Amino acid sequence: MNSKGKNFKWHPDEKPPQIEAHSKAKLRVLRRYLRAYFDRLNVSPHRDEFKLDLVDGFAGGGLFSDGSDELPGSPLVMLEEAETAKTRLNHNRIKPLAVDCQFYFVDKEKAHTDHLQKVLAQREPASDGNKIVVRTGPFENELDSILKSIHQRQPRSGRAIFLLDQTGFAQVELTLIARIFSELPAAEVILTFAADSLINFLSERPQMVTAAKPVGLSDERIRSLIEDRDGYGGKALVQRTLRDHTRILTGATYDTPFFIRPEQSRRALWFLHLSRHPTARDVMIQRHWDVQNTFEHCGIGSFGMLGWDALLEGGTLPLFRFQDLDAQRMHEELLNELPRELFSLVSEEPVTIETFRHMFANRTAARFSDLDEVVLRLFREREFAVLDQDGKERSRSLKRLKTSDRIALPSTLLLPGFSRLS
Ligand SMILES: C[S@@+](CC[C@H](N)C(=O)[O-])C[C@H]1O[C@@H](n2cnc3c(N)ncnc32)[C@H](O)[C@@H]1O
Repeated sequence: MNSKGKNFKWHPDEKPPQIEAHSKAKLRVLRRYLRAYFDRLNVSPHRDEFKLDLVDGFAGGGLFSDGSDELPGSPLVMLEEAETAKTRLNHNRIKPLAVDCQFYFVDKEKAHTDHLQKVLAQREPASDGNKIVVRTGPFENELDSILKSIHQRQPRSGRAIFLLDQTGFAQVELTLIARIFSELPAAEVILTFAADSLINFLSERPQMVTAAKPVGLSDERIRSLIEDRDGYGGKALVQRTLRDHTRILTGATYDTPFFIRPEQSRRALWFLHLSRHPTARDVMIQRHWDVQNTFEHCGIGSFGMLGWDALLEGGTLPLFRFQDLDAQRMHEELLNELPRELFSLVSEEPVTIETFRHMFANRTAARFSDLDEVVLRLFREREFAVLDQDGKERSRSLKRLKTSDRIALPSTLLLPGFSRLS
C-alpha cells in the first residue's frame, strides 16, 4: 500500500523522515482548515470561552525532515494553530476570549510516540501545560476513553476535531467514525483514504475481502464495484459509489474530499472531511478554493490534480475539478443546471435556503455563497420566488438570503431556465 515504510518511520535517536510533497499538501490543508475553524466559530464578540478538543489518532512522530530543514507534523500543526488562534482572536476584542484546547495524540508505535514526546519537550512555549495527552496504542483501543474525557470536559457542546491520517485505506474502521458522530454530533473528522489503491486492488481474492473489511464492503458490494470499474462506469463511478458508501456508513451528513495525487505512486489519496454540520462543510470547501492557487506552483509533477477529480463525473451538476474551473464558469454552469433541479425540488412546496444548501452541498464544488448568489439571480430574473418566514415575497433588490427564507415557484410560471434562453 502506498507510501508505507520509511516516509512514516520515526525513532527518537534518528533524524525525522523526509516528507513527501503530497504529505506537505495535506498538512497545509489541515493548517488552513484549523485556522478557518477557529475564526469561523468565534465571530461573536459576546463569547468569552471557546473549548475545543483536538484528537490526532494517527499522530506519527511530530516532525519531518524537509530537505535540510524541519517541518512540523500534524500534532505540532494542531498545537501551533491553537496557539496563534489565541492571539489572533483576541486582537481588538474588548471582552477577552479564553481559548481552551485539549489535545490527544495517539500512535500505535512506541518509537513514534517516544519521538513525539521528545519533540514536545523541546517545544516553546509550553503554555498548553498538561493539556496534551500522548497515548501509545491502536487508536481503536483508545477511542472509548477519549470520547469519555471529551464528554466530561464539554458535556454540552462536545466540540472536537478528529484527524485520522492513516496509511492506505484499511487502518480506520469506518464504524469507529460512526461512533464518534453518534456520541459527539458536533465533531468533525478528517480521514486520509487511499481511494485509488482500494480501487486498483479490488479483486475477488479472499485477501481483498479481508483487507476491505474495515471499509465495510461486503463480498457482494466488492463484486458490484469490480463490475462498475471494468464496465461502462469506470473508475469515476466506483469513486462516487465509494464516497457515498463512506458517508452513509460513517453517519456523516456532509463529505468534502480533497484529492491529492502523490508523485510517486500516482494513486490518488482522499483527504476526506466528514461532518454533520453545513457550516463545517462550508469552511472546508472554502479551503479548496483558497489552496487551489497556492498549490499551482507545485506544478503538475507534484499534484496531477487537486480537488474534485472525476468524483462527480456523470452527476447532475458538472462541477468536479477545481483546477480547470474558475468561479465564473462554475456560476454559468450552476445557472444552467440549477433551475431544473430547483424546479423539481420546490414544485410540491417551498423549501428553505437551509434545506436547499443541504441538498446540494455534497454534489457541487460551490460554496454556500456561490449557491446563494445563483438563487438571488434566478429570483431577480423571476424564475423563482423567495419568501420570508411568514410566506411574504421578499423584495427583488434583496442582497443576502437568510437560511429561513424559502424558495418557491413564481406565481407566473416560466419553464426552468427559460428566461436565459436568448
Ligand atoms: C501517515 S502517518 C501519520 C503522519 C502524521 N499524521 C503527520 O502528518 O505528521 C500514520 C501513523 O499512524 C500510525 N498507525 C498505524 N496504524 C495505527 C493505529 N491503528 N492506531 C494508531 N496509530 C496507527 C503509524 O505508526 C504512523 O505513525
